[in-house]
Amino acid sequence: MAKAIVVYASETGNTESVAEEVVKGLEEGGLDVTLKNVEDSDAREVLDYDLVLLASSTWGDEEKELHESMVDFYEDLKELDFAGKPAAAFGCGDSSYTHFCGAVDLLEERLDERGAKLLHGLGEGFRVDGDPDQEVLENAKAWGKEIAEKFQKSASS
Ligand SMILES: Cc1cc2nc3c(=O)[nH]c(=O)nc-3n(C[C@H](O)[C@H](O)[C@H](O)COP(=O)(O)O)c2cc1C
Repeated sequence: MAKAIVVYASETGNTESVAEEVVKGLEEGGLDVTLKNVEDSDAREVLDYDLVLLASSTWGDEEKELHESMVDFYEDLKELDFAGKPAAAFGCGDSSYTHFCGAVDLLEERLDERGAKLLHGLGEGFRVDGDPDQEVLENAKAWGKEIAEKFQKSASS
């Protein structure tokens, strides 16, 4: 069974809850999934997995900012060669800020720059506006399943 890792950064638990649903969707899509808080993860370990999902809520206002717990991890990603490895990004934000889900933009850009194959287009990772309600959590699970299906397709082509 192909292995996926989901590494998330979250302050109040919103991105964590969304990540838990995304994991359920990935599992329904046939993947063996490891979920980690970025505080318990080392950037290099993501290369041991067949599919990499990164998630962070957005902070700051003037500039796009990751959750602070993801800053070192993000820096360490610069050293990695993803060599076409499938990947995706998601996170929670609030559209009343200038850079809605700017952290997801940053994650997508870094993955793309390091040679990962984004399973969605740049700017098209899963973005949550406000606290996730039941409907958002269901959408998160469905998105996870869709990513797993895209992964399975890309693995067989
Ligand atoms: C001080 C502050 C700054 C924020 N800046 C942004 C921002 O620039 N863009 C955005 O989309 N959301 C921003 N947010 C909203 C959070 O990202 C949002 O509340 C998110 O759901 C938190 O998720 P978490 O619990 O996973 O950390 C900000 C929130 C606070 C309190």
